[in-house]
Amino acid sequence: MHSKDVPSWVLTLPDLDDQQFIQWATLLEERVGVVVPVERKSFLVTGLKLRMQEIGCADYQEYYQRMRHGSGAQEWSMLVDRLTVHETRFFRHKPSLRLVTEQVLPAVPAAGDDAHTLQAWSVGCATGEEAYSLAMLIDAHFRALGGRYFFGITGTDISRPALEKARNGIYARRRLADIPLDLQAAYCVELESERFQVHPELRNRVCFTHLNALLAGAAPYAKMDLIFCQNLLIYFERERREHIAHQLAEQLRPGGVLVLGPGELVGWQHPQLERVRHPDTLAYRRLPAAQAKEAS
Ligand SMILES: C[S@@+](CC[C@H](N)C(=O)[O-])C[C@H]1O[C@@H](n2cnc3c(N)ncnc32)[C@H](O)[C@@H]1O
Repeated sequence: MHSKDVPSWVLTLPDLDDQQFIQWATLLEERVGVVVPVERKSFLVTGLKLRMQEIGCADYQEYYQRMRHGSGAQEWSMLVDRLTVHETRFFRHKPSLRLVTEQVLPAVPAAGDDAHTLQAWSVGCATGEEAYSLAMLIDAHFRALGGRYFFGITGTDISRPALEKARNGIYARRRLADIPLDLQAAYCVELESERFQVHPELRNRVCFTHLNALLAGAAPYAKMDLIFCQNLLIYFERERREHIAHQLAEQLRPGGVLVLGPGELVGWQHPQLERVRHPDTLAYRRLPAAQAKEAS
């Protein structure tokens, strides 16, 4: 929407006062696990104004009461979407992806029947670029090895509209520039209107599901070989970051690797994890069961 289309009452809506900010921040944290620290108050105000404009509500208190007492999952989902940052790119953090190709993939053992198998999880996957980047790397690796293989990737996020875009796998053509040329040729199908779509065979390997990262421990994803959680923890306070990381650690198989964004959880330790050393990355490997017992 252009600014000339914005109703004048939206532009004149005042900022939240301190009391209102606390009310909203508490409600959002309780209901959906979205944490809005006071430094991000202006972000909350912008998101609220945007959503209130969309539904024609001109009063913070009225909208607050509605969300607190009456609104269903659909309205919560739309509001959460306006209050979360979905910025992402294909092949966003190259050192972490190099760690995957240089350390994680070569270590994947063949299963009993000689098929290589791998399960990966992109936590806070936004519109899917991270999950598809991993899928391209994994598929290309196994293809080059030859033989039989199976892998699956799950992308989870709290924003349903972002997940819908991820499922479609359709992106503006300019975003191709982030994807290595050989992988573009293998996995990207050009569409009209300056867009492309991830190849259907690759899309079939990736599923996208709604999940609040604060409840990651309750997700039925145990025995992951690889978990990517980047540019999500930054939105939480330290205690909650650790809580999420602990839950993700529990979802790894022995030998599985957790890759966080560098700087997102400095100094964190877990008794069943060891640091994976790789330049410019923050990653951990789950110890084999016997070693983990000694360590704890
Ligand atoms: C900045 S994007 C990061 C996308 C991708 N991981 C990357 O690094 O490019 C952060 C994503 O985390 C999601 N998110 C925020 N809070 C969340 C929560 N409590 N549970 C699950 N996802 C959440 C947002 O909806 C958003 O899509």
